[in-house]
Amino acid sequence: MRLAATAGWAGAPRPRHIFPGTDAPKNRGLRMSTTQSAATAADADANTPRFLASDNTSGICPEAMDYMHRANAADDLAYGNDRWTAEASDAFRDLFETDCEVFFVFNGTAANSLVLASLCQSYHSVICHQLAHIETDECGGPEFFSNGSKLLTVPGDSGRVTPGGIEKTVTKRGDIHYPRPKVVSLTQATEVGTVYDLEQLRAIRDVADHHDLRVHMDGARFANACAGLDVSPAELTWRAGVDVLCFSGTKNGLAFGEAVIFFDKRLALDFEYRCKQAGQLASKMRYLAAPWLGLLETGAWLSNARHANAMARRLADGVADLADVNLMFDVQANSVFLEMPTPLQNALRARQWTFYTFIGEGGVRFVCSWNTTPELIDSLIADIHQAVAAA
Ligand SMILES: Cc1ncc(COP(=O)(O)O)c(C=O)c1O
Repeated sequence: MRLAATAGWAGAPRPRHIFPGTDAPKNRGLRMSTTQSAATAADADANTPRFLASDNTSGICPEAMDYMHRANAADDLAYGNDRWTAEASDAFRDLFETDCEVFFVFNGTAANSLVLASLCQSYHSVICHQLAHIETDECGGPEFFSNGSKLLTVPGDSGRVTPGGIEKTVTKRGDIHYPRPKVVSLTQATEVGTVYDLEQLRAIRDVADHHDLRVHMDGARFANACAGLDVSPAELTWRAGVDVLCFSGTKNGLAFGEAVIFFDKRLALDFEYRCKQAGQLASKMRYLAAPWLGLLETGAWLSNARHANAMARRLADGVADLADVNLMFDVQANSVFLEMPTPLQNALRARQWTFYTFIGEGGVRFVCSWNTTPELIDSLIADIHQAVAAA
């Protein structure tokens, strides 16, 4: 792996791939176009990385890029006082069919961490699944920004927190020595590519109401969950009892940017100050907001998600007949987790497939995006079949 020198690390080279188990092939300086076209997959030579490790590897979708250009046509006010931020916020109100408070931040870790900090005092705690991104992949951000609110993790099949798990955690202790549970955090779609359906969400809300808990949703793949369940954003959030949603645009076709949506507006009090203090108040906020408007006005937020989900389904179906390859979780959104022998994984790496093996309960994770092509998926299916036959 080629290492790029980065100032600030005392001259030490900084690895390009900083996650364990990234399993990325060597990047030989090849550049993917922003639209990873059918031709890319078909023409891939033996050295071309084939990106399915994450939906973060995809480029910017045309609708987002178009609105970025439109926003760039004229100057506008700074710090969210521009027309694009106002219009995108209203577009979210239309989408969610309610008068919610909307904020734009750069990334998901900040969105989750700042929301949890705003819902908790430092002596409170947040109940989440043991595989939750806030627990496993945010470098202690939620605890840091909340001045120490503790995450209390619970187990649960297929990446889901259950009402029973919440009940058990809340009632385990009621004494002054235990950080008082205040929030339930749910990831939708979950870290293992499953979703919470409406019934499951309502059951969680019931238990939350019983114990005076707020419900936060990490919607890194919220659009994919809406598409997978074929339910509206309103149904899947405030009507099912969600108080605050962190809605990812990054994974839905933007370059970067998450929308933080408070359905209970009282909870948004002073949130803009948190954003500013945490370095998440974009001065040129129009460039965060305008691409969102592109997704919302054109409907690309949903068509992108539907497409990504369909590609995941295609992959799962394409390997369903293989005895050596087992689907670990139901495919309900845009991720596919496969259990496969190590030599098979190595054969795929040798053919330049990128995938993670450290997320969730392990296994090989492939994630599809708005620009994943059927040809790319079919070539992966073919490579898996070929590797199984050669084993
Ligand atoms: C479930 C989940 N939540 C949140 C995030 C946001 O992370 P980031 O801070 O990298 O935008 C991710 C990104 O991979 C994720 O998978």
